[in-house]
Amino acid sequence: MNKIKIIQPDDWHVHFREGGILSVVTKYSSRINKRCIAMPNTIKPITSSKEAINYKKIIESNSKKESFQALIPCYLTDTLNIEDFEYALQNNIFIGGKLYPNNATTNSQHGVNDIKKIYNIFEILEKQNKILLVHGELNRDDIDIFDREKYFIDEELYQIRNNFKNLKIVLEHVSSDYGVDFVKTNNNIAGTITPHHMLLTKGDVFQNDKINPHHYCMPVVKNESDLVSLRKAACFNNSKFFLGTDSAPHHLDDKLHNGIPKAGIFSAPCSIELYAAIFEEENALENLEQFSSINGPKF
Ligand code: DOR
Ligand code: ZN
Repeated sequence: MNKIKIIQPDDWHVHFREGGILSVVTKYSSRINKRCIAMPNTIKPITSSKEAINYKKIIESNSKKESFQALIPCYLTDTLNIEDFEYALQNNIFIGGKLYPNNATTNSQHGVNDIKKIYNIFEILEKQNKILLVHGELNRDDIDIFDREKYFIDEELYQIRNNFKNLKIVLEHVSSDYGVDFVKTNNNIAGTITPHHMLLTKGDVFQNDKINPHHYCMPVVKNESDLVSLRKAACFNNSKFFLGTDSAPHHLDDKLHNGIPKAGIFSAPCSIELYAAIFEEENALENLEQFSSINGPKF
């Protein structure tokens, strides 16, 4: 076999950044995807309707494809202008909200410290039937870096789920068997899975007290058993999982300087190829379309 044909994919989690990087990377996502959710963690985060309209315009004008659409979620903070937020949801300027726990990842210093303080925002999303996208990691000094997803689920996500039963939540870049299980067993929850979480384990990142900067991302990749669980979830037709690369380009200087590199793996130039290779390895190519083009839009 040398050819497969699928409905055009969507990528439900991409970082386009801004300025020079944006103008270089956008075409890699638009070459293959019909729609992309463009993450709002720019240096000055996207928090207003005006910024969202502008950001969408910039991305689409750099995409080199007429039909390509960038969908923008609002970067949620505890100081949002609620009137503008509601207006932007009603008019599909924001497709939903993105929750970054404070300092969980790149440019998340504007993220939320006390998630209960933005429950009013979740109520609005639920009422308007808009999605909540979640970076599901609890970042606390006493929590091991490999356990952040589990702690977030246990200490925050269960409560959000129980308080807002009709709110559609996407647990983004699911990275652990625990996360897969949470998505499978709770209503109105779906998960995106990146290629790198199905290709790498922690030994590929941390070697002899050194970090391989190109494999360093948040959430960090974990154990073989987690990788296997993610592959099963993606490949075997579970309608609750879909494509989200978390393609996250950084300047080489930010990756290669001494110290902790910026987290993020830039996979857009070969994203569908990586997914296809994984599905082929799992003998599940017939389910690729479901994962890349059907489950996401349905949710
Ligand atoms: O590795 C990551 N990089 N994970 C994220 O959640 C954010 C992203 C980025 O913006 O660099
Ligand atoms: Zn991301």
